[in-house]
Amino acid sequence: MNGNNQPIGFFDSGVGGISVLIEAVRGLPHESFVYWGDSLNAPYGVKTVNEVQALTIKSVEALVDKGVKAIVIACNTATSASIELLRERFHVQIIGMEPALKLAVDTHIQGAIAVLATPMTLKERKFEQLMARVGLSHEIIRIPAPALVLAVESNNVSEDALFALFDQYFESYAQGSIDSIVLGCTHFIFVKEALIRYFKGSIRIVDGNQGTIRHLEKTLMDLQALSSSEDKGAVEIMMTGGATSQRIAEEFLRSGLTQKEG
Ligand code: DGL
Repeated sequence: MNGNNQPIGFFDSGVGGISVLIEAVRGLPHESFVYWGDSLNAPYGVKTVNEVQALTIKSVEALVDKGVKAIVIACNTATSASIELLRERFHVQIIGMEPALKLAVDTHIQGAIAVLATPMTLKERKFEQLMARVGLSHEIIRIPAPALVLAVESNNVSEDALFALFDQYFESYAQGSIDSIVLGCTHFIFVKEALIRYFKGSIRIVDGNQGTIRHLEKTLMDLQALSSSEDKGAVEIMMTGGATSQRIAEEFLRSGLTQKEG
C-alpha cells in the first residue's frame, strides 16, 4: 500500500495555527503532526514584509529538518508575505491560507461582509487579488485587529477584555449593517464564541480552517502520501517563546479537541 507516515508540519507566528491543527487532528486522525509556533517573534502582522519573510523561512527550515512530508502555513499573514518565496525555496508541499472571503460571498444574504485580520494581511497584494476575484460586487469592510492577536497570544481572553476590543472594532458600524465576519487570522478562531455572544447571535462567522484541512487531505491523497497507519497519530508542539507559550498552545489544543469531541 502506498503511503507516507512522516508527520505533517504546521506553522504559525504563535498559537493561532493551533486552531487549524485542531481541525487536522480531528479530520486526519492517523496522521502525525509537528507544530512550530514562533511565539518569540509574534505578532507578525505589524512587522515589515521582509521581516515576516525571514522569520517564516527560518521556521519552515526547522519543520523541514523534522522530516515533514507537507507543511501548512496556518497563518494568513505569513502566507500573504511569503507563500511564493517558500514554494520557490523548499521542495516540500506547502499549503497556505487566505481569508475565507469566497465562502462568505457564496453564502452571503445581505449587508456588509467584515474581514477581521492583521494589518499586513489586509494591505498585501494577495488580499487585493482575492478582492478582485471574489469581492467586487459586495460591500467588504476591512478591520485590522492587531490587539486581538496579542490578546489571544497571551491568553488574555476574558469577556471584558474581548468586548472592549470588539467595541473599538465595530463601533462605527450601525447595528445590523454587518451580515458576516470573516476570521482572516487563525488566532481569531479562539474568540469566535465571544464574537457570537457580542453580536447576540445576529451575524454569521466564517473561517477557512475546515477548507484548509480538506485541501491538505486532497493534496496528500493525490500524492498518495496519506498515512498508512491505523493507529492514532502523534502531535508534537514546539513554541519558540518558552514555557508560557508552550503551555498556552498545549492548553488550546487540549481544550479545542475536548470541546469538539464532547
Ligand atoms: N495567526 C496569524 C494569521 O493568521 C497572524 C498573527 C500575527 O500577527 O502574528 O494571520
